[in-house]
Amino acid sequence: MAKTGKARAHTNIALIKYWGKADEALIIPMNNSISLTLDKFYTETRATFDAAFTKDTFFLNGEEANEKETQKISAYLDLVRERAGTELKARIDSTNFVPTAAGLASSASAFAALAAACNEALDMGLSNQDLSRLARRGSGSACRSIFGGFAEWEKGHDDASSYSHPIDADHWEDELSMIFVVINNRSKKVKSRTGMSLTRNTSRFYQYWLDHVEADIAEAEAAIQEKDFKRLGEVLEANGLRMHATNLGAQPPFTYLVADSYEAMSLVHECREAGIPAYFTMDAGPNVKVLVQKKDQQAVIDKLTSYFAPEQIIASDIGIGIEILDEEDAL
Ligand code: DP6
Repeated sequence: MAKTGKARAHTNIALIKYWGKADEALIIPMNNSISLTLDKFYTETRATFDAAFTKDTFFLNGEEANEKETQKISAYLDLVRERAGTELKARIDSTNFVPTAAGLASSASAFAALAAACNEALDMGLSNQDLSRLARRGSGSACRSIFGGFAEWEKGHDDASSYSHPIDADHWEDELSMIFVVINNRSKKVKSRTGMSLTRNTSRFYQYWLDHVEADIAEAEAAIQEKDFKRLGEVLEANGLRMHATNLGAQPPFTYLVADSYEAMSLVHECREAGIPAYFTMDAGPNVKVLVQKKDQQAVIDKLTSYFAPEQIIASDIGIGIEILDEEDAL
């Protein structure tokens, strides 16, 4: 008989970044990171394990994935099977719920949903902490998407000690939102995995990153406890820029940012000059994400649409952690 499980996981955006691995195979990071889970972008995944299957298959957004993508999922399923003590092959059906063509699909929501769906299908009985560890093996940032709101990934030092936990902010996150500025990228894509590895191994500025990131974590934690938006904003913006600065010192140097990324950053600075607190961060691509207080959301959107088209601006509330879906819930 087939064993199935379905789960939904939301993407997360790091306020204090994960950038560089201490262990590439186990995905142990060089530093702790802190994120916010968002409600707008998510992945729903059904995992079906069946003795009748002779190989793993992977369907993404209704279409069978190519050999390379299927191989990646299959390698991940090997970890799951080892952990669950089974040899059953699986069919994985995943759907990404992201605004069309925005290029915002994330490996964070993908592997968090896959780990949770497998846990359900195979009755593995993993705690959220163990699920976080399992999601981490697929993609580091996925270990934070197990939880809603603010989450911190404790870097740890081995497979057992590297996982995320929620940061209790006493519902402060309900007052916040994140505005995405979706920027088209004509330059060659450097995957986050490739970019962080090159930077960690070759960048003259990487030590500078390591020298500051622990203090950034402490500062962000304190700001969250105090619900001090300005304090949190200042440290997240500085941390994001520092991450991007390390890439300029890599050999060869590279950047994820394009002219329109800088345009968005300038507009955020103009918001602040006008007395509206708003702070930006960027990941392994040119899109700019702006953390705002909900009461200022419209004013910041108005400022951004003075240059960007309305369809380039997407606002998201803060999201919840993984959800197990009923069999009836359509994918
Ligand atoms: C810039 O989690 O995608 O978004 O662990 O190699 O799969 P792998 O990398 P990934 O890297 C995310 C990098 C980042 C910062 C962050 O999310 O913390």
